[in-house]
Amino acid sequence: MIPISYRIRVIGLHAKTRYHLWIIWIVVEVPEARFVTSYSFEVGEDFACKLDLKDPLAGFRQRFYVPEGAVYLDGNSLGLLSRASESAVLRALNDWKRLGIRGWLEASNPWFYLAEDLGAKCAALVGARPDEVVATGSTTVNIHSLVNTFYRPVANRKKILGDELNFPTDTYALRSAVKLRGLDPEENLILASSKDGRFLDEADVVGLMNGDVALVFLPSVLYRSGQLLDMEYLSEEAHSRRILIGFDCSHSVGVVQHHLDKWEVDFAVWCSYKYLNGGPGSTAFLYVNKKHFEHEPSLAGWFGYVKDKQFDMALGFEHAKSAGGWQISSPNILSLAALEGSLEIIHEAGIEAIRKKSLKLTSYLMYLVDETLSESPYNFSVGAPRESERRGGHVALEHEEGTRISEALRSRNVIPDFRPPNIIRVAPTPLYNTYHEIWKLTNHLRDIIDRKDYSKYAKERKRIS
Ligand SMILES: Cc1ncc(COP(=O)(O)O)c(C=O)c1O
Repeated sequence: MIPISYRIRVIGLHAKTRYHLWIIWIVVEVPEARFVTSYSFEVGEDFACKLDLKDPLAGFRQRFYVPEGAVYLDGNSLGLLSRASESAVLRALNDWKRLGIRGWLEASNPWFYLAEDLGAKCAALVGARPDEVVATGSTTVNIHSLVNTFYRPVANRKKILGDELNFPTDTYALRSAVKLRGLDPEENLILASSKDGRFLDEADVVGLMNGDVALVFLPSVLYRSGQLLDMEYLSEEAHSRRILIGFDCSHSVGVVQHHLDKWEVDFAVWCSYKYLNGGPGSTAFLYVNKKHFEHEPSLAGWFGYVKDKQFDMALGFEHAKSAGGWQISSPNILSLAALEGSLEIIHEAGIEAIRKKSLKLTSYLMYLVDETLSESPYNFSVGAPRESERRGGHVALEHEEGTRISEALRSRNVIPDFRPPNIIRVAPTPLYNTYHEIWKLTNHLRDIIDRKDYSKYAKERKRIS
């Protein structure tokens, strides 16, 4: 059955009162995900194997290093190393060995242009122009840089609107942006609240977009529940109130399609160590909509200088009129090299195919949990949105013994992660996970409860979970 999940928006209203003539434009929008939401699954192991046999992306798994014997379901924390990334890093090391400083212009992929080059490759994944994306910095630093660039508090418009479910670093950065302007975050940072601690209602967020809000900054996907926010709707509502809007797309780039230009998002940031498989602490990305290219970056640095004139070493700052203008420091070439390899694979697979498999994997997981683990004594529940168009790449499984069950899973070499208070996050990555692994996960969960295996572990959470 095709779900009746669409949005009706009045996009134009024309009133010619003299002749009592009203024209209303109404658009009925059916989201992209609608064709992939009707599945018919079965609970048996053989059915999982059949799904794998029919999987058009199955061949990509062998191009990754999946840790020996592991069921690795943590790709939304740290994606795995691909052979392509490994070769690209070795090539960069070799360039450094052969060329020394000459590598900036003579390496196989000259280092001087690499950040822009990878930005252009990533732009294709997020629906942006090649010059609107650059690989640079880290997620949090990029939030500081872009929020401080676009947050322009004036007399009656001083507030930043965020949300209470965002990843903490984002909120720390927003708070410090308010303080940097000499303003009080208690008054000037508003956090949209959630009714149930899991999800945000976009209409509630829009309800807070008042005339005193200067900037909105939100996540694309909530890091705990996996809810995918309607970025187009939020952007449109923000702009209709003359408010700028940015997103942290760390949990969606590489697993969900984006249309940042079409949605007219003002700016965005995302990390590359999750679904982009760039490696631990790898260089992040930022997006600046072309309409803001003239705007001077708040955190200026020499790598943001107009490229052709950077080595003139002038003291006055002239920023590149592209996302590249928001670079601050020398690019980390070894980290960018890993991304060269991993982006290549994502493009080869195609983001549409990746999203399609991701939705099928997460739907299958929710199906197995509902069918086999939801009742006593198992008592797992799904804390992720059921509708495909509202779900990112992972599923939150809730259980009151979530911490200890995660530990029990890890001791069996099944690797999800845990987020307080009770969430086991499972992120099947379409490029290297299989349906059979999802089946195995649910089988382990059943066995852990049957044997009360979790009771061997301390209730306290480990430092990194
Ligand atoms: C949504 C989100 N933003 C930011 C970060 C972390 O930022 P950074 O890359 O600066 O450590 C994470 C880390 O998992 C995240 O999930």
